[in-house]
Amino acid sequence: MNNIYGVVLAAGQGTRMKSSLPKVLHKVCGKELLSHVIDCMNSAAKMDKLVVVVGNGSELVIKHLEQYKNAEYVFQEKRLGSAHALMQAEKSFKNLNGHLIVMCGDTPLVKAETLKALLKQHIKKGNSATVLSGTIENPFGYGRIVRNSEGKFTEIVEEKSASSEQKQINEINSGIYCFDLKTLWKALKKVNNKNSKKEYYLTDVISILNNGGYKTDAAALAEEQDILGINDRVQLAEADMIMRAEINVAHMQNGVTIVDPATTYIDKDVVIGQDTIIKPNTHIEGKTNIGKNCVIGPDTTITDCKIEDDVVITYSCVESSQAKKNVKIGPYSHIRPDTILKENVKVGNFSEVKKSVVGDDSKVNHLSYIGDANVGKKVNIGAGTITCNYDGRNKFKTVINDEVFVGSNVNLVAPVTIGKKVLIAAGSTITDDVLPNKLTIARARQITKVRKNK
Ligand code: UD1
Ligand code: CA
Repeated sequence: MNNIYGVVLAAGQGTRMKSSLPKVLHKVCGKELLSHVIDCMNSAAKMDKLVVVVGNGSELVIKHLEQYKNAEYVFQEKRLGSAHALMQAEKSFKNLNGHLIVMCGDTPLVKAETLKALLKQHIKKGNSATVLSGTIENPFGYGRIVRNSEGKFTEIVEEKSASSEQKQINEINSGIYCFDLKTLWKALKKVNNKNSKKEYYLTDVISILNNGGYKTDAAALAEEQDILGINDRVQLAEADMIMRAEINVAHMQNGVTIVDPATTYIDKDVVIGQDTIIKPNTHIEGKTNIGKNCVIGPDTTITDCKIEDDVVITYSCVESSQAKKNVKIGPYSHIRPDTILKENVKVGNFSEVKKSVVGDDSKVNHLSYIGDANVGKKVNIGAGTITCNYDGRNKFKTVINDEVFVGSNVNLVAPVTIGKKVLIAAGSTITDDVLPNKLTIARARQITKVRKNK
């Protein structure tokens, strides 16, 4: 399909959110409302152009749009209503023919398949406008789809303008539309603001087109929970719950075991391999990718990580890091950003690793802090080892070469380099580099004296 364009209306105040953050940048399952909408549009059709109407909090919204190659923005200076918002986009479509999908920036649950089906029906029927509608139990607050006695779609009536009879209608406007580009701009110019909110309602375009003899349709293709519009934080939480359940189901259908879906929080863009088991109270966030046969959780948070196959992570926090095959993390470990744990590494109880590489088969099993370090292969880091990487102003590097054995309770005062196969005696504070194959001790010798005044 060619000549498919998109507009997202995202300039509204979002007053009911009571937030300093623009509404469309609030998140559902770890992703901004606006991103859900843009991703949905981009996967429904090849968008030749995607225009976002910005206004409230525009600086942040514009910045957010930088990641989308096909997205541009227009600014709506005064928020005079959804029709007025769409009009601002007219200049972006000068001399263009084709079909325009319009979505509100606050409907994150719509599925790409639904949008695809809407577009298909719109083109097949040769409509000037096709509205995505759905039947919902409590239609309060939504525009109602009004049909005549023959069932023909005649207009959309907003809650505030609806008669008590119209308020009984359960078929509602999802805020998602397909338009024929050319007729749209003409119809939009005829919209007025003679209503209780003194706003230019996009929904008025329907009766205008119908009166002009153009074909319109309301396609009831949406499930109730797909078209939830987010206007406040109660609906935000509701959307999160719905999407979370859908995400969990999709992973389970792909061969992931989720022991307790009710307490498993997986963000939208997370990838998980087959036969991985996710235990309760686990959060997997951002752009995390987890391999096959892993065991994750319970009580674990993983954010923006690349976890390979056969990894076990228990009661731990892992951020922006990589764990290669067969790594074991936890219980109670904190892996901070820019860490790479290579194959078979073990990071155990109450250990923290930050911005470090730990080589194959090395162990940081108990109560250690490894920061800004390069740890080689088959290194044993004894219990209570600390890299002293910070002097209050700058960070310094610790290099520990292959097969080093670090005894318990060692301080490594960086910058410092420990040669291959060195043995560091327990309790040492190491301030100087150590050449390979040495034994080094840096602690006061024990003196035992006679005890007086027993
Ligand atoms: C709108 C629809 C309603 C539909 C509902 C679905 C209108 C008049 N009503 O109502 O029929 O059932 O969505 O969720 O469109 N916006 C601007 N600039 C403005 C005003 C709004 O960009 O000046 C944007 C908002 O950011 C939002 C969208 O338009 O994304 C809809 O506005 P909103 O105020 O949320 O309309 P609803 O009352 O939810
Ligand atoms: Ca809305």
